[in-house]
Amino acid sequence: MSYPYQIQDKEGYFTSYEQSVNDPEGFWENVANSFLWRKKWDKVLEWDFKTPNIKWFLNAKLNITENCLDRHLENNGDDIAIIWEPNNPNDEVRKLTYKELHAEVCRFAHILKNNGVKKGDRICLYMGMIPELAIAVLACARIGAVHSVIFGGFSAKSIADRVIDANAEYIITCDGAYRGAKEIPLKSVVDDALTQCPFVKKVIVYERTGTSVSMIKDRDVWWDDEMQKVIESGLTDFPAEEMDSEDMLFILYTSGSTGKPKGVVHTCGGYMVYTTYSFVNVFQYKPGDVYFCTADVGWITGHSYIIYGPLAAGATGLMFEGVPTWPDAGRFWDITDKHKVNILYTAPTAIRSLMASGLEHVEKHDLRSLKVLGSVGEPINEEAWEWFHKYIGKGKCPIVDTWWQTETGGIMISNLAGVTPAKPAHATLPLPGIQPVLVDENGNEVEGNGVSGNLCIKFPWPSMIRTTYGDHERCRQTYFSTYENKYFTGDGCLRDEDGNYRITGRVDDVMNVSGHRIGTAEVENAINMHDGVIESAVVGYPHDVKGTGIYAFVITEHIHHDEDHARNDIAQTVARVIGPIAKPDKVQFVTGLPKTRSGKIMRRILRKIAEGNTDSLGDTSTLLDPAIVDEIIKGKV
Ligand code: PRX
Repeated sequence: MSYPYQIQDKEGYFTSYEQSVNDPEGFWENVANSFLWRKKWDKVLEWDFKTPNIKWFLNAKLNITENCLDRHLENNGDDIAIIWEPNNPNDEVRKLTYKELHAEVCRFAHILKNNGVKKGDRICLYMGMIPELAIAVLACARIGAVHSVIFGGFSAKSIADRVIDANAEYIITCDGAYRGAKEIPLKSVVDDALTQCPFVKKVIVYERTGTSVSMIKDRDVWWDDEMQKVIESGLTDFPAEEMDSEDMLFILYTSGSTGKPKGVVHTCGGYMVYTTYSFVNVFQYKPGDVYFCTADVGWITGHSYIIYGPLAAGATGLMFEGVPTWPDAGRFWDITDKHKVNILYTAPTAIRSLMASGLEHVEKHDLRSLKVLGSVGEPINEEAWEWFHKYIGKGKCPIVDTWWQTETGGIMISNLAGVTPAKPAHATLPLPGIQPVLVDENGNEVEGNGVSGNLCIKFPWPSMIRTTYGDHERCRQTYFSTYENKYFTGDGCLRDEDGNYRITGRVDDVMNVSGHRIGTAEVENAINMHDGVIESAVVGYPHDVKGTGIYAFVITEHIHHDEDHARNDIAQTVARVIGPIAKPDKVQFVTGLPKTRSGKIMRRILRKIAEGNTDSLGDTSTLLDPAIVDEIIKGKV
C-alpha cells in the first residue's frame, strides 16, 4: 500500500494546509482519488451549516468494506489485518490475515442475510473486544445495514434506550465477555433490555465464555450454528452492497447536555476518506508497522482507529480483549513487547493509572519497538505526558495528542508524528482540511494568537456528523445554532503564541470521566430514580486518575443514619440505570441546592465547592436561599 496523501515533512504540512483552505474541494478530491469507488462523485461538496445539510462526494458509489478488505487481497492478502490478544495472556493469540478477515466477513454477511437483514436495517452490537466484533461491524457495512455498537459496560436500560431509538430489529451479542478477572454476562443484560423491545426479530449470539444463557425460541440463534449452515452451503464470497456516499454507515450514541443520549450518524464516503487520511498522517503509519489502539470498539476511537481507518490503510492492528491492569499493571507493556508494537494509541486516564502503579511494571519489558505514541479522549496533563514520553517512549517517540469527538468522526487537531512538533498538553495544529476558530461569548471570532475561546469549526470536513438519528432538529440545535455558520464543539480552548491549540475541557454539561462522555443530566435522572431522592445536581471535579470525577449533591426525603450505605445504594442505582462508568465518586446529602429565584440550579457554585475552591464563589446574594451554600460547604465529602 502506498499513501499518496501522506505528508512527509513540516514544509509539506504547511503546503497541504494552505491548499486545503484555498481549494478544499480540490484538496479532498485528490485524497479521495486514492480510494476504491464503484462510481466517482459528480460533485465533491454541498453544504450549509444552517439546516444543516452536509454532503460529500455526491452520487459516488462504494462499499467501505471493499476498501478495507477486497482492495488488499491481490497484493497484501496474506498480511495480518488483526492481531488479537486475549484477556488471559496464556490463552492463544489469534491472527487474521486480510484474506481470512475478508472470508469471515463474507460468511457473516451471509448469516445476516439468512436471518432477514437488509440494506438500511439497524443492528445493535453488544459484544466484548473479540475479532467477531470487528467481523460483525464489517459484515453490517458489507450488506449495507447500519450498525450501532453499544459499549459493553452499559446497562440493560441504556441498551433498551438505544435499541428503541434506533428501532433496531437485530442484535448481535456474546454469551459473556472477559474483562480482567471479571466475566460479564452480556447476553443476560441484553435479555433484560429486550423485555422492553418486543419488536426485535433476531439475536445472534457468539459463544465466548461458555456461561449459561437463555435462548428465546424463534428469536435467538447461535453464531456458530448459523456459521455451520453457511459453510455447509458452500457460499464463500458475499458481493458487497453498492452504497451511496451519503448512505448511513453507522449510528453511535453519545451523551449530550440533556438526559437522552443522541445517535450520531456517520455516512459512508466521507467517513472512509477522512478516517484513513487522518490515520495515515497522524500516526505516520508505514506498511508493516504494528499498531495498537487500546480503545474499545464501543466508542468512536474504536470505530475509526481500530476498524475503518487502519483496515482501509491495509495496516496491521492489534485488538486487545482485556484491561490494562490485569493480570498486573504491566499488561500494555507486556503486549507491546510480545507483539513488537510500533505505534501505541491510548488514553490519558490509562497512562495516569499505570503511572501510579510504579515503574517496576514498565522496566520488566522491552519497549524498543515503539516509534510513535498517541493520546486521545481528554486533555493530557503535563505530568502524564512527561511520564509517557520518558518511560514508555524512552524520550525518542513523538507523542501525538489527538483532539476529536464522536461527532467529528476522525482526528481534527493533532501534531503529525515526527512531522510537526509536539508540545506537552497541546493538541497543537489542525490537520490539513480542518479550519478551527475560537469564538467569544458573543459569537465573534477571536483572531490572533495568545487567545482563548470556545472551539468551533467553520468549514465542513468529510467525516463530520450528518444528523442525530431520528431528530435532525436536535443536531441543528446542539451543534449549529449556538454560533451562526459554525459547528460548535462544546469545548473550551486556548491558542498559544505559536498558534498551537490546547483544549481546556467541556464548556457544557458534559463530563469527561476516564475519557468517557457522560451528561450530568443523565446521572441526575438516574439518581432521581432512587427511592427517597427528591432532587439531585451532578457536577464534575478534578480526579487524579479519571481526569474528571462525578460529584452528586442529593436531597432525600429522610436523613440517613448510615450515610455510607445510602451512598452505595445510590451508586448502585446509577450503575443499574446507566452502567458502572457513570457511578458517582462522591455523594453528598444536602437539604437544598443553590438556586436562582427562577429556580435554576447554580452549577457554577456547586462546581467550585466540589473542586474545593470555595474562596471564589462569586456573588451568592441573588440566590433564593444564600445560607444553603454554607451548609453545603460544611458538609463536603
Ligand atoms: O472534550 C473533548 C475530549 O473528549 C470529547 C469528545 O468525547 P468523545 O465524543 O467521547 O470522543 C472521545 C474520543 C475522540 C471532546 O469534546 N477530548 C477528546 N480528545 C481530546 C479531548 N480533550 C483534550 N485533548 C484531547 N486530545
